[in-house]
Amino acid sequence: MLILAYWLGIVSATWPFPEQVHVSWTENPGELMVTWVSYTQLETKLAYRPMMCSAASENWLYAYGSSYAFNEGTNITRICYIHKAKFLVLSSCFYEYVVGNGGFWSRVFEINSRSPSEPASEDTQSARFIVLGDWGTGPNGIYTNKLLSEEAKQRNFDAVLHIGDLAYDLNDNEGQVGDQWLNMIEPIASAYPYMTLPGNHEVPNNFTHYINRFSMPLNSANQGTGFFYSFDLGPAHIVMINTEGYFYYNNITGLTQYNWLVEDLNQANLYRNIRPWLVVLTHHPVYCSLDWSESFKACGPDAMLLQDELEELFYTNAVDLVFQAHVHNYERDTPIYKNQTVYGAYDSLHTHVGPKAPIYITSGNAGNCEGSNTPLVQNPQAWSQAWSSDFGYGRLVVENKTHAYWEQFSAQSLKVIDYVWIIKTQNRYN
Ligand SMILES: *[C@@H]1O[C@H](CO)[C@@H](O)[C@H](O)[C@H]1NC(C)=O
Ligand SMILES: *[C@@H]1O[C@H](CO)[C@@H](O)[C@H](O)[C@H]1NC(C)=O
Ligand SMILES: *[C@@H]1O[C@H](CO)[C@@H](O)[C@H](O)[C@H]1NC(C)=O
Ligand SMILES: *[C@@H]1O[C@H](CO)[C@@H](O)[C@H](O)[C@H]1NC(C)=O
Ligand SMILES: *[C@@H]1O[C@H](CO)[C@@H](O)[C@H](O)[C@H]1NC(C)=O
Repeated sequence: MLILAYWLGIVSATWPFPEQVHVSWTENPGELMVTWVSYTQLETKLAYRPMMCSAASENWLYAYGSSYAFNEGTNITRICYIHKAKFLVLSSCFYEYVVGNGGFWSRVFEINSRSPSEPASEDTQSARFIVLGDWGTGPNGIYTNKLLSEEAKQRNFDAVLHIGDLAYDLNDNEGQVGDQWLNMIEPIASAYPYMTLPGNHEVPNNFTHYINRFSMPLNSANQGTGFFYSFDLGPAHIVMINTEGYFYYNNITGLTQYNWLVEDLNQANLYRNIRPWLVVLTHHPVYCSLDWSESFKACGPDAMLLQDELEELFYTNAVDLVFQAHVHNYERDTPIYKNQTVYGAYDSLHTHVGPKAPIYITSGNAGNCEGSNTPLVQNPQAWSQAWSSDFGYGRLVVENKTHAYWEQFSAQSLKVIDYVWIIKTQNRYN
């Protein structure tokens, strides 16, 4: 009572309830991390219980985490408290959980226990991801929010991979845009691991908002930044990288990441027999055909720079798929090496059998205040197979060791606007 009277009486801005609740996978299989915000300095407590499995329990179990003050503001001081708590899950269960401090709790959230596996252990279930980029609040972001919220209720994917440009921008309006967006996505991001990588809109103040508001898997090279990491789910090795190092940031980040990436891809190749699919996700495109007239850098000089830096590494390691964003449209390309289509055993508009180079797909138009990019020239590059400027996102289903399926949705017309099957005939290209 005393505490309540204190909060209500003194400062209405210090709302004590948790908000912006979102989940991520950690570097440890079987572990879920929950990150949230409060505006008063309170304890960090998470209560959870397994459901729908033999371990199901009426009793709540508790996990304690930690919090720290984060100044969201740029010109003014806006302190929020960022809370992080993790809990271990059994793979056969669903979980209910609440977060708070023991006095002020969130509502009850539900989450599936699916999490990455150890590199050497085989996981025969399919892996299903929502892939999207460049998403913010406001009228353009609503379509994706509506469709994805509906889809989230159906439990037909394992995680969301948001490949850069979050909120437009997390730091804008003294951090309030980030708060609004994280509250907007809470029904999705509290129910599924919401995995991110940084884009150019995360650059302000040296990525401060990105680093603090998200809790991505740690590795010895990323130094707690969440800039780049990888994980294994089902028959896929998923690699999230940061391309900002090549454009805005110090090149040391690019080099540190590059060395890590070489090691990571080498390691993944040791397990290609149990996990044949190698998928890399980046914010900046390595190949895209929008605006190659050079009036816009993304698909011209910037893409060429990334081709110089990364393409050989992708090709020699037999990367299957590269997802990219940044350009606000959708484009699916053929398998490409050195700016040329590489033909496999069989290729048609919606099927590639035995591809011999990475397939590049841009899905960078979840919807944000900048709107869509439309091609300046009507004819896309020879390797471009499908394109659209509708707001939306895609779904990658890595079915098993030989079959993967990709589809792109228009969240405006509520339709599948493109799809492709990729069928492996061998673990690597040859
Ligand atoms: C902070 O101050 C700078 C310089 O006066 C200004 O350009 C910027 O818009 C301000 N930022 C916010 C979020 O008000
Ligand atoms: C930005 O942060 C990195 C660590 O993440 C640090 O090494 C670098 O010096 C910082 N740069 C600036 C300009 O503050
Ligand atoms: C950045 O580092 C890479 C090595 O990863 C090097 O090839 C490239 O020339 C460097 N770029 C700049 C602009 O220094
Ligand atoms: C790729 O090839 C096309 C011609 O097919 C050319 O117009 C374009 O400039 C090339 N792009 C790059 C990045 O080299
Ligand atoms: C892999 O998935 C495809 C598509 O669902 C299916 O046709 C095929 O039989 C599966 N392969 C195995 C070995 O289960």
